Amino acid sequence: MYRRAPVPLYYQLKELIRDKIRSGEWAEGMRLPSERELCEQYGVSRMTVRQSITDLVHEGLLYREQGRGTFVRRARINQQLDRLTSFTEDMLNRGQTPNARVLSAGMCEADSMVAERLQLPPGQEVFRLYRLRTSDGEPLALELTHIYFPGCERLLEEDLEHNSLYVLLETKYGIALVEALQEVEAGLAGKEEANLLRISPGSPVLLTRRTTYTDHGHPVEYAVSTYRGDRYTFCTRLTREW
Ligand code: GLP
Repeated sequence: MYRRAPVPLYYQLKELIRDKIRSGEWAEGMRLPSERELCEQYGVSRMTVRQSITDLVHEGLLYREQGRGTFVRRARINQQLDRLTSFTEDMLNRGQTPNARVLSAGMCEADSMVAERLQLPPGQEVFRLYRLRTSDGEPLALELTHIYFPGCERLLEEDLEHNSLYVLLETKYGIALVEALQEVEAGLAGKEEANLLRISPGSPVLLTRRTTYTDHGHPVEYAVSTYRGDRYTFCTRLTREW
């Protein structure tokens, strides 16, 4: 810590802690040394320590547990929004184990929104799948998917707890998924959603609405996904056109 530096001490300590987390020296779930220990170690006042920690709690890098101390939070999931990937691929790329719990699966009549997105007459029978997506046992998202292609009722026989929907569509059904239109919205978790995602009711969530098209330009999937707002960051690369 440089007392003469133009940067305030609390800021220096904050960056020091951030570096420890980034380098993995302070791993996720680790309890931080007590305020007193940090004061002694870095020769700063309790107020300085408190200010650095409060800032990092607000930034979501640390969290406090009443009576237990301050802990390093799990790194957020950086979800690239410029590639058409499945939940399974995203998690495998992170070295994690994806899973799905099927909450419901069956044929249903397309409502007006689903019919519009899938370019079908309202009332057309479509396959409807509602899944809780987890990774390494942690619940991350809820996905309500509607699928239509001639013969889509065959999906009823598939094991969608242990198989990726995209892999099945592409390999078994020969449907090439080439592009998707996706909207992102902010939302709040309802009671049931919160329960499944293990967050408090009213917590912020990120909603995506995706319409996925085949190589012939036919929409085959309309999915609404609800991601935990405390676990996801959506990233896009933007290039400037001259
Ligand atoms: C993503 C998309 C969904 C899609 C799902 C397929 O999460 N938001 O629209 O249905 O991936 O995932 P999987 O192939 O793992 O079943």
